[in-house]
Amino acid sequence: MSNKFILAIESSCDETAISIIKYSYAKLELFANEISSQVKLHAKWGGVVPNLAAREHVKNITPLLDISLEKAGIEPKDIEAIAVTQGPGLIPALMVGVNFAKTLAYLWEKPLIGIHHIEGHIYANFINENSKDIKFPALALVVSGGHTQLVLMKDHFKYEIIGQTLDDAVGEAFDKVARILKVGYPGGPVVSRLAAEFEISNSKFQINSKGKNESKVKDSSNHKIPDTKYQILLPRPMIKKPGFNFSFSGLKTAVLYETKKDPSLLKSKDYINEICHEFQQAAVDVLISKTIKAAQKFQPRTILLAGGVSANKKLREQLGEAIKAKLPDVKYQIPQLSLTGDNAAMIAAAAVLRWENLNEKQKKKASSGWKDLQPDANLKLK
Ligand code: KG4
Ligand code: ZN
Repeated sequence: MSNKFILAIESSCDETAISIIKYSYAKLELFANEISSQVKLHAKWGGVVPNLAAREHVKNITPLLDISLEKAGIEPKDIEAIAVTQGPGLIPALMVGVNFAKTLAYLWEKPLIGIHHIEGHIYANFINENSKDIKFPALALVVSGGHTQLVLMKDHFKYEIIGQTLDDAVGEAFDKVARILKVGYPGGPVVSRLAAEFEISNSKFQINSKGKNESKVKDSSNHKIPDTKYQILLPRPMIKKPGFNFSFSGLKTAVLYETKKDPSLLKSKDYINEICHEFQQAAVDVLISKTIKAAQKFQPRTILLAGGVSANKKLREQLGEAIKAKLPDVKYQIPQLSLTGDNAAMIAAAAVLRWENLNEKQKKKASSGWKDLQPDANLKLK
């Protein structure tokens, strides 16, 4: 079998992205991974404005295609199939990517595959040297700006959502907390940076966080007021509830109430940093506790981390430590840091594995994707 290329397009939110992946014998090689971020544009609104996002996608998508083909050193004739994020996402934004992909599929006479955005995040894990070690059943902790889910995978593309957030997604909670604290947008990277500053400036806590006190905080029945300057203690929502659902809206509200106790404290950098640290730890504690409990019940062979919040250093590290301590036989797989946020390489990775497993009927359907594929803002994972 000769080498084959898949070109993928992602435009579901505020990143326009195109990627080209070469695959042979299930080995994935990234030939181009271009991302044009609109973060600065949306920052002044404190969130993504759908129509502005769509306008930017239209502006950026054609230049990104030229750059991607040039970087990959290939021509359209080398491409086996085109993939695009079909949903979920912002409909004006999705429409740009899908219509662009349909146009290319028509002009170049290529099959077109629609990919679920979260499936893409999960499959970012397969762009990895050691991805052959990913064994099923697998349990994916999906954490992004729009999703917080525990997804059990019996095999490739066999999904069962065993738990999810009942309100805000965890990334959304990071973003909202950043807004309450007026520290910038998007919230995840800022809040985690300020939390790290807290740890650096609070060496006593640093010792504790590696020692025994930290594990006491992790157990909600053992919640202790931390021995810190402002003694901020936030709830770990749902941690003791049976089942695998999450809730982050109350945690965000708890941050809001904390800031109302003495608004003058908001001028203090130490205070802000301590809130960020406690908020991040509370969110991470809940995510880890539910993931470990789900793994104890469903006995996966691999635990995967996926989505924008998987960039979070504390989550990456502490989930790894918890798995090592409690489930030493389970493999832990995290995506490369550069592939945690929205990108098209993850869409290409999912498309490669899907494409390789399509039967003739399904391939025929893909060949009319240029006219049939429709974006779906609420696409279900299946
Ligand atoms: O997957 P993603 O790029 O877009 C969606 O599909 O939603 O996730 C974006 C989310 C944002 O809420 C952002 O604040 C969060 O991921 N995020 C983080 C970090 N980096 C990005 N959250 C916590 N810690 C981070 N380091
Ligand atoms: Zn995403």
